[in-house]
Parts: sequence; C-alpha cells; structure tokens
Amino acid sequence: MGTDYLAIDNIKKVISEDIKAERSSEEEGDITKASSLCKAIIGNLKIVSGMDQKYSSKYNDIIKIWEKKIVDMESGARRSSRRPAGDKSGPAKSAPPSGKGNNGLIGKMETEFRGRIEALISKSNVKWSEIGGLDQEKNAIMEAVFFAMATPDVDINIPKLRNILLFGPPGTGKTTIAKAISSNIEATFFNVTLSELLSRYVGDSERLVSALYDTARDMSPSVVFIDEIESLVRKRDDSNRNSTSVLQQFLGQLDGFSTGEDFVLTVAATNTPWELDQAIISRFEKKIYIGLPDEPTRKKILELNTKSKGYQVRVDLGKIAAKTGNFSGRDLYYLCSDAIRNMLRRANNDIIEKLDGSIQNGMKVNYRVWPLEEQDFQDAMSKTKPASDDAMLNQYSSWKSRFASN
Ligand SMILES: Nc1ncnc2c1ncn2[C@@H]1O[C@H](COP(=O)(O)OP(=O)(O)O)[C@@H](O)[C@H]1O
Ligand SMILES: [Mg+2]
Repeated sequence: MGTDYLAIDNIKKVISEDIKAERSSEEEGDITKASSLCKAIIGNLKIVSGMDQKYSSKYNDIIKIWEKKIVDMESGARRSSRRPAGDKSGPAKSAPPSGKGNNGLIGKMETEFRGRIEALISKSNVKWSEIGGLDQEKNAIMEAVFFAMATPDVDINIPKLRNILLFGPPGTGKTTIAKAISSNIEATFFNVTLSELLSRYVGDSERLVSALYDTARDMSPSVVFIDEIESLVRKRDDSNRNSTSVLQQFLGQLDGFSTGEDFVLTVAATNTPWELDQAIISRFEKKIYIGLPDEPTRKKILELNTKSKGYQVRVDLGKIAAKTGNFSGRDLYYLCSDAIRNMLRRANNDIIEKLDGSIQNGMKVNYRVWPLEEQDFQDAMSKTKPASDDAMLNQYSSWKSRFASN
C-alpha cells in the first residue's frame, strides 16, 4: 500500500497550527484550552503515525512527549488552584488566573527553551580537505558517521556508534573536525559550548539538556557537538549543584537508546581529558586523540594558510615546518597571519606613512599584496610561542595510552 503524502502533509499543517495555538494558550495561562489542543495534536499525530509506517516510531516518541506535557500541565494547574488553609473566598476556580499564573510561566519557558535550542542549531561549510593531516582520525570519524547514517542492505540490527570523544592539545582541530562532520552530512547539527550553557542558563541548564536531546531526536538524524565537556566536572567542585544534575542528565542522554529511526550522534571535545571522571569517560565508546601535527602535516597546514588562500610564497615552507615543533594548527595559523601582516606592512610602508594615522570613514585605499618572504616568517616566529609545552604533552600521552581508541 502506498503512503498518501499529500494527506499527511495536510494533517501536518493542522498539527503545526495547533502547536502555535497551544503555545499561546499556555502563555496566556489557559490550561484548559492548552490541554484540549494537546489532545487534538496527539490525535492527529496518531493518524499520521498510522499512515506513515516508515516513521511511525518517530511519531510515537513525539506523542509520548505531548502526553507527558498534558500530565505536567494538569498537575501544575491542580497545584496552583489549591487554596491555602483558612481561605474562605469560595470554591477554587478551575483555571488559574490568566497571564501571571504559574502555568503561564511554564508556557513561556517552554517557548523560550525552543528558541534557545533552535539557536544551537548551526551549519558550517568546513571541508575535510581544509584540515591538514589527521588522516586516520578523519577516516575513523567519517566511517563512524557513515555507518550511523546509512542503512544496511539487509534487515539487521547493527550497533551504531553514538558517542565520540575528541581530546588533545588546544588548537589541534577538534572543533574544526566537528564542523566538518556537520557540513558533510545531511544531519541537524547542534553546537553546544558547555561552559556557556552552564553559566548562561543557571538553573535551567538541566532542562535545556533534556530539551536539546528531545529536539535532536525529533530532528533526527542529528549530531550534538559538546565543546569543553570538562566544564561539566569542573563546576561540580563549586557549590554549583546545578551542574551535578546537568551531569546526571547528560549521562542519561549518552546512555539513551534510540527507537527505530532516530539517530543522535554525540561528539564531545576537551583539551583537558584528565579532568573528566570515570562516569563520563566510560560513556564514550570511541576516544580519539587529536594530537599536534607532525612535520609533514605542519608543512601542509602552512600551505593551507598561505598558498591555498592565494598568497605567493617565496620561502621553503618545509624549512618553517622543521622549525615549528610543538606548534598546533592554531599556532601555525597565527604564525601565517602574522607573516602576512609583516608582508603587508613591508609592501605598504609608504601608504601607511601618508595616511598619517587618520583613516576617514568610507575612504577607498588600495593596498599592495606581495609574495611572502623568509623574513616575514622569521619575524613572526620570534613572536609566536606554541600553546603546548613538553610537560603538557606528556600528560596527554599518558592519558592517551590509558584511554584512547587510536
Ligand atoms: N589540522 C589542522 N589543519 C588546518 N588548520 C588547523 C588544524 N588544526 C587547527 N587548525 C587551525 O586552528 C584553528 C583552531 O582549531 P580548532 O579546531 O578550534 O582547535 P581545537 O578545537 O582543537 O582547540 C582552526 O580554525 C584552524 O585555522
Ligand atoms: Mg575547540
């Protein structure tokens, strides 16, 4: 039997109208109306779920969310309509006062949550080829993502990799890799910087995490990128009970099994893996070390930041690569930017002098771009220090030999 997509589309339109109406009645505190709209939404979702067999498990999950919403809403309404002892002002009204009522507040928060979650969705256009070296690491990640997203040609339940941890010195390309994943697959990408989420949404972050994963499942396939995952643990030392419950919420989500069609891949990154505790470490099936670039890779990264961007280079980049041990990809990027500035200064000395320090608004001045010379790099190198030192690198290698998958 074929699936009637036209009919399904029409019902979906009705559902989305109802969702809008439900949100606004919740905001107005009209729980009776909101809950009857929820019931209508559930009824229509059930129809769609029956019609669209392929995605019925996905719809059933969404139905559960709405059913839970009704229960939460109605118990909230009962609580706020309870009278304090000695109150003789007559029988409790069935609906709470509109506007400033407790439920209005919850309604507003839900709407706000949706906005906050949607704000985390991002799309990038980083290509794998823009990341120098790390061939094995890139392959391992692409393979995991491929098997997670693609469908096997026989009906068999293949275990999917759900959680990947990237760790290593700062500036080695962890965030860039996550961006490359997002731009190369047709998946919803959620970009979460944990320290930001914890500090900006104190008290709400736990609910935000569960809303995040609900949305990710809803918009499956999804990739949730959690940057600075160590801040989950770091904050636990403070009197911040908030992050303990956020941690619990996270661990639960990382454990979570998917139903049917849903797929959510969590990619987390950290510069300080030793701050993580066992509970988090054990959740990640794959822990991939993203290390400092070796000499050939450094040369490649130097090229990516100069030649590939259109600059002419009159210096042996291999020589620069040989002199930049302990430099990360970011350090090399800074080095190139600095060398480019040196060249620009060299090429445009006369113009800068003529400007006499004053640049007027909207002034059109052309400046010269010359080839990069050895001296530009020499000067830059004398000012650029790598972010990682040997002591730090030892710490990484011992953590790596204990935990890494690569
Ligand atoms: N392997 C690499 N190839 C090319 N550029 C790199 C590489 N690693 C890092 N970079 C550069 O350094 C910058 C910072 O990298 P990022 O991914 O944010 O590092 P991390 O998340 O590991 O701290 C990137 O924008 C890029 O310019
Ligand atoms: Mg990063």
